Amino acid sequence: MQIELSEEQRMLQQTCRDFAEKELKPHAAKWDEEKRFPKEIIPQLRDLGLMGVAVPEEWGGSDMDNIAYAVAMEEVSRGCASTGVIMSVNNSLYCDPVLRYGNDAQKERWLSPYASGQKLGCFGLTEPQAGSDAAAQKTMAVRDGEGWVLNGTKSWITNAPNADAALIFAMTEPDKGVKGISAFLVDHDNPGFEVSAPEQKMGIRAALSAGIFMEDCKVGPDSLLGNPGDGFKVAMSTLDGGRIGIAAQALGIAHAAIDAAKEYALERIAFGQPVADFQAIQFMMADMATRLEAARLLTYKAAWLKNQKVRHSKESAMAKVFASEAATFVTHRAQQIFGGNGYSVEYPVERHYRDARITEIYEGTSEIQRLVIATSLLREG
Ligand code: CAA
Repeated sequence: MQIELSEEQRMLQQTCRDFAEKELKPHAAKWDEEKRFPKEIIPQLRDLGLMGVAVPEEWGGSDMDNIAYAVAMEEVSRGCASTGVIMSVNNSLYCDPVLRYGNDAQKERWLSPYASGQKLGCFGLTEPQAGSDAAAQKTMAVRDGEGWVLNGTKSWITNAPNADAALIFAMTEPDKGVKGISAFLVDHDNPGFEVSAPEQKMGIRAALSAGIFMEDCKVGPDSLLGNPGDGFKVAMSTLDGGRIGIAAQALGIAHAAIDAAKEYALERIAFGQPVADFQAIQFMMADMATRLEAARLLTYKAAWLKNQKVRHSKESAMAKVFASEAATFVTHRAQQIFGGNGYSVEYPVERHYRDARITEIYEGTSEIQRLVIATSLLREG
């Protein structure tokens, strides 16, 4: 067993760290306050090869592995958690399923420009009544000659306002239940496809999330990703990878909070000495650092299993539930170390706390992760 990053992974880590420090961290508070998609940063993500980290070069990606992707996600999210999720949705929730289920013509059209960062993708699974209960899809796709016609509503779709295409899940055979769901690649400029105004959110406010409305949205036969009825499997296996990305985003948020708390604790004087000298603060910092490290190891383990191309639902769920709860714990303690200043928008930790909260909710709540872990555990031989 070897627990160290390869030279390539370490180089990527350093590159992303420098990029985040210089180009993301100084602007993250402003982007969050303005609730503005940081479009000026997308060309830089593209030039650094961060929009398709684990996609092969022949399809526009950087041809690295899933651990490299987790490393990059942590560093980018450490600088700006909104940028982290914009990147994660494109990498994990859009490019990865097109790579795994698409044919060559689909990859040419719907993968290469996205993995190379020229275009942006999003993932349309959630509906008003289908959040945790993802199988309760009401969006319908009905045969229309060779192609399909889609009708329905998606909600909370991250990147939707800025994306060029969406992976949309829809019922094609409702009487088959979960086996009647299919996946479709739909361009945003397709007639009958509309995106709503962005949601007003507590955190990650520079990553825009919105509803998608499809009304008689006609798509060709080439839009179908995988076979009819494969949709739920496509969605769930995609989320197995997406949850590694969100775990890594949580690592980045926690890491940023520890950075800030450490700097503050060494500078802030109380009772005649830096607060870092008090054991109460030291113990908090020790717990924060320990949870971050444990979360990172779980995240790398899940990413390593994805590299082996074996089912990693349980490990991804463990990484996500642990890392997201660690991020909430760490950002809470960081705010505590800052005292009253931690409650002020003048300091970064209130944003880190707001950003951490969503990691326990999207791509499956902590309760859903526990369900996935327990189901898998109870079924294991
Ligand atoms: N890989 C492959 N197949 C899978 C699978 C996986 N990970 N998980 C389930 N399946 C298959 C099962 O094997 C089963 O098929 P068989 O009957 O042939 O065995 C079928 O799918 C149905 O599985 P379940 O009975 O477990 O399905 P369920 O309806 O009970 O749902 C669930 C399970 C875990 C609760 C699931 O609905 C779930 O994960 N819910 C959370 C949804 C979620 O994470 N949404 C996030 C939206 S995206 C987002 O948040 C993006 C963003 O903003 C950034």
